[in-house]
Amino acid sequence: MSSDKKIIIAIDGYSSSGKSTMARHLASAIGYRYIDSGAMYRAVTLWAMRAGLIGDDLAPDADALVSRLGEISIDFSVNPDGTQHTMLNGEDVESAIRTLEVSDRVSPVAAIGGVRKALTSMQRAMGVEKGIVMDGRDIGTAVFPQAELKVFVDASAECRAERRYKELKAKGEDVTYEDVLNNVRTRDRIDETREESPLRKAADAVSLDNSAMSTDEQNEILLGLYEKAIRNS
Ligand code: DC
Repeated sequence: MSSDKKIIIAIDGYSSSGKSTMARHLASAIGYRYIDSGAMYRAVTLWAMRAGLIGDDLAPDADALVSRLGEISIDFSVNPDGTQHTMLNGEDVESAIRTLEVSDRVSPVAAIGGVRKALTSMQRAMGVEKGIVMDGRDIGTAVFPQAELKVFVDASAECRAERRYKELKAKGEDVTYEDVLNNVRTRDRIDETREESPLRKAADAVSLDNSAMSTDEQNEILLGLYEKAIRNS
């Protein structure tokens, strides 16, 4: 299933489209490193919230944040069970970055050019040896336009909100389906319309609408795409 030849796999798509689950599964099946680029934007957002750089109107102080990016270090630690945890300045923030409070504030932070520039160069450095599966919004268009395999994952906003709502409820978060649907729609709009690297499908990406697919089905499709990309690279 895995091959000596190493490639870069870019998986982009809308929020809560299930792309992280797919990307993580593929990476473990083929022995690649998995990087959740959204977690990096979330970690910067959490840092900015704690530093008092995000107002009650949810708007970040872009200039102050960009000038203080040097104070933020982001890394991933791999647990013995294979799960990855996002580390912010040495602290495990994996749960803290997944709350609705962070989700409500992350898109405006991700729209700041200076933040994107810094995270894009960190992401490129993670891919220099290839053998990486990275998911996000601009991986196939901006971070790794030369990726050998690009996939664009989609599902309806209602379907994505339903999945996210169940996840948050399972974690004991006090949210309503309407709140989550609003958050999904708002993030879609900000991600699609921002000036810097807006969310869009790369011309050479394969589209995958997983609204009516089981996880087994989507994993199988992805593995088939990987095998084809290896044959063609
Ligand atoms: O995938 P996610 O929901 O965890 O992403 C969080 C936010 O970060 C989302 O609003 C879009 C943004 N993001 C981005 O702009 N570029 C990426 N490569 C990954 C995420």
